[in-house]
Amino acid sequence: MKRLSAMLLFFGLVCSAKVVHADTEKLKVLLQRNNCTACHMIDKRKYGPQLIEVAEKYAGQAGAVKKLAAKIKAGGSGVWGEDMMPPQAQVSDADAITMAEYILALK
Ligand code: HEC
Repeated sequence: MKRLSAMLLFFGLVCSAKVVHADTEKLKVLLQRNNCTACHMIDKRKYGPQLIEVAEKYAGQAGAVKKLAAKIKAGGSGVWGEDMMPPQAQVSDADAITMAEYILALK
């Protein structure tokens, strides 16, 4: 029995690792489609903050998805410095929410 639960745990870990990876791939597709990659990379600072740092900053904060989704569409400045993120009117509400969720899930 012990061995069985250890195996289940192992497969559980493998599968959840895969899910995280798949989400990162989906995030990359969305970032590219919405032209975010002009300014953002996941793990390197470009013109805008690296997205993995954004995930760290808002980790565990209630309402972070909504807040970031709104910021993705409206743009703004002052959180990461003086650089301005222009409004991203091309982004659908659904894409803004999905990207905010995937960004916050980055680790
Ligand atoms: C022209 C460059 C540029 C583009 C294009 C751009 N960003 Fe940004 N982004 C920035 C800058 C600069 C900041 C930092 C703003 C600040 O300090 O408040 C930022 C901040 C962010 C943040 C953190 C917001 C916060 O308040 O902490 C997220 C999330 C983000 N961008 C996502 C995106 C997504 C998704 C897209 C594509 C739809 C995108 N950005 C397109 C420049 C850009």
